[in-house]
Amino acid sequence: MWTGWWLWPLVAICAADEFRDLAVRIMQDTPVIDGHNDLPWQLLTLFNNQLRDPGANLSSLAQTHTNIPKLKAGLVGGQFWSAYVPCDTQNRDAVKRTLEQIDVIQRMCQMYPETFACVTTSSGIRQAFRDGKVASLVGVEGGHSVDSSLGVLRALHHLGMRYLTLTHSCNTPWADNWLVDTGDDKAESQGLSPFGQSVVKEMNRLGVMVDLAHVSVATMKAALKLSRAPVIFSHSSAYSLCPHRRNVPDDVLQLVKETGSLVMVNFYSDYVSCSAKANLSQVADHLDYIKKVAGAAAVGFGGDFDGVSRLPSGLEDVSKYPDLVAELLRRQWTEAEVKGALAENLLRVFEAVEEASSLAQAPGEEPIPLSQLEASCRTSYGYSEALGLRLQPGALLVALAPLLLSLRPL
Ligand SMILES: *[C@@H]1O[C@H](CO)[C@@H](O)[C@H](O)[C@H]1NC(C)=O
Ligand SMILES: *[C@@H]1O[C@H](CO)[C@@H](O)[C@H](O)[C@H]1NC(C)=O
Ligand SMILES: [Zn+2]
Repeated sequence: MWTGWWLWPLVAICAADEFRDLAVRIMQDTPVIDGHNDLPWQLLTLFNNQLRDPGANLSSLAQTHTNIPKLKAGLVGGQFWSAYVPCDTQNRDAVKRTLEQIDVIQRMCQMYPETFACVTTSSGIRQAFRDGKVASLVGVEGGHSVDSSLGVLRALHHLGMRYLTLTHSCNTPWADNWLVDTGDDKAESQGLSPFGQSVVKEMNRLGVMVDLAHVSVATMKAALKLSRAPVIFSHSSAYSLCPHRRNVPDDVLQLVKETGSLVMVNFYSDYVSCSAKANLSQVADHLDYIKKVAGAAAVGFGGDFDGVSRLPSGLEDVSKYPDLVAELLRRQWTEAEVKGALAENLLRVFEAVEEASSLAQAPGEEPIPLSQLEASCRTSYGYSEALGLRLQPGALLVALAPLLLSLRPL
């Protein structure tokens, strides 16, 4: 029979695409919630956050991994946008720049209301799914953004922050970063200092997810032990497959499993293959591995798009998530496991964090000791040590007496 011979290549292609078709069908119902995307950083560096710059139109923006057509093609239904400011802002203008990155995320939602819905709750995410919008949330990447202040932490929560990465690639005065584990930085807090512990407790009280991407292993363990709610790694992969210190080692994966926490796999080639080259199949290996060690409920996606310079072949931009999901289906992940990795696992963790929050409880008030702050660029109002006094009874009056005596009415 020769009739229809020309159809055979088409049949072969259809068979090859069977998993991708299923992936798309699943994702139309349960789109991906990605843990970490640095588009706001691109908007700052390319356009100084001027969204009305004609080049910044998110429908046509081309030099980034992320734009509106790519988000639609990728069936992205939720995104934690990173309010990231680099470590060189620490002790300088970190808080101001963090506020500006939160502002640009909020303006993005206002400017493209057909595409984005800025939300702050798990039910807000589910509503955005139903409305066919990209649920947009704020993740603040790096504890230096709170400038060692529980007051700033609470204010950022008010502005929509729903996770805080305890460090970026630098220590804060209260938590150590991953460079401590390579020997490039010195351990200062041995995980979390007493003030670092009060930060985690306050995050639990507020309902802000604790993000352990970028922190040292000691910090991971301290936070996993202390947190009353499950935690996330918003963009980290498996250390056993690629022994980079940004990745999560097996003993920590065990704690992730025990606490119902979540590892959202980072696609950065250097963390996937420990080399400049990687492919989609190697990212699937990380997802498989975390599933094997910590269970399917511990797996998620945290692509790190627009935050990295090298991505695996097959995962070049945010439009490619369905291809990765197709690969998981090809590897016999069940539909329920795939939905977990796409969105349900994050929603479960977020809901647990919301339930564990207790705003009725008194807020933390104890400030970080002044001696733990670098003082060159800051004032020290409120700290009695700043006057050189140790608060012996009467000492304040004795110290101020000459000043008081010199006061004259004007
Ligand atoms: C972006 O460009 C499209 C046309 O490509 C236009 O319809 C839309 O209004 C622009 N959006 C903004 C916010 O400028
Ligand atoms: C992905 O990369 C690995 C390691 O280089 C290689 O063995 C594998 O064949 C590649 N897979 C695909 C589908 O290209
Ligand atoms: Zn990062």
